[in-house]
Amino acid sequence: MIRLDRYLCEMGEGTRSEIKEMLRKGRISVDGLTEKNPARKVEENSAQVSVDGRRIRYAKNVYFLLNKPAGLLSASRDGKGQTVIDWMRDREPENALLKRELFPTGRLDKDTEGLLLVTDDGALAHRLLSPSRHVEKTYYVELDGKLTEEACRRLCEGVQIGEGEKTGPARIREAEAVEGCAEDSKAAYFLTITEGKYHQVKRMMQTQGRNVTYLRRVAMGPLVLDERLSPGQFRPLTKNELSALGIGGRGKTVSG
Ligand code: URA
Repeated sequence: MIRLDRYLCEMGEGTRSEIKEMLRKGRISVDGLTEKNPARKVEENSAQVSVDGRRIRYAKNVYFLLNKPAGLLSASRDGKGQTVIDWMRDREPENALLKRELFPTGRLDKDTEGLLLVTDDGALAHRLLSPSRHVEKTYYVELDGKLTEEACRRLCEGVQIGEGEKTGPARIREAEAVEGCAEDSKAAYFLTITEGKYHQVKRMMQTQGRNVTYLRRVAMGPLVLDERLSPGQFRPLTKNELSALGIGGRGKTVSG
């Protein structure tokens, strides 16, 4: 059971004082009856809470898909630069869902763009990031030169990227270069890996004498980068995306 004002606040309906005002005006109902008391206790998963007749379901966790732009750090907090969480909060300062203890699921380098799942669901993050789960991540990679067939074969079989660090099986295919990503690009590929070692894609390409000129993550597990999101934009995961991740159900999540 939680207080009604907290319930609504956590669901992004306003600040405590805004909610108090909405209650005073009779805009909020619980189980069909107008409620004016902010301290009223409600059962998160069964109470029928509505604002202006619109049902507000309680959500335990929140999930956002961000198209990370270059220049942001994949962290919750960082004294040295702007993080993806700072960025999202700055874009939507009124969104109470963004005030939760959010973190990015996995790291992308500062200069890498693309799909980043931002959530407060630690169990899901663990499932997606645990090395034993071999969750696939696909990157669109631009290089300063073409890879030979032999280099592609080596990358797919696994390469030594550091002391005792051999990469697992990967898939690679040539891609059409996307206009405007990087001027010095000479070739483009889609690379799918199942690990998340530090600078992994860049280090893999270096073993074949190539430098990454542009990098964008386009998929992670069942999630695919939404092309309608330009770099810096984000949205809640859809119901389909949530169920593809094995989450969802009444009272458990916030989705778009
Ligand atoms: N591999 C890299 O080298 N950088 C990233 O940001 C992600 C994967």
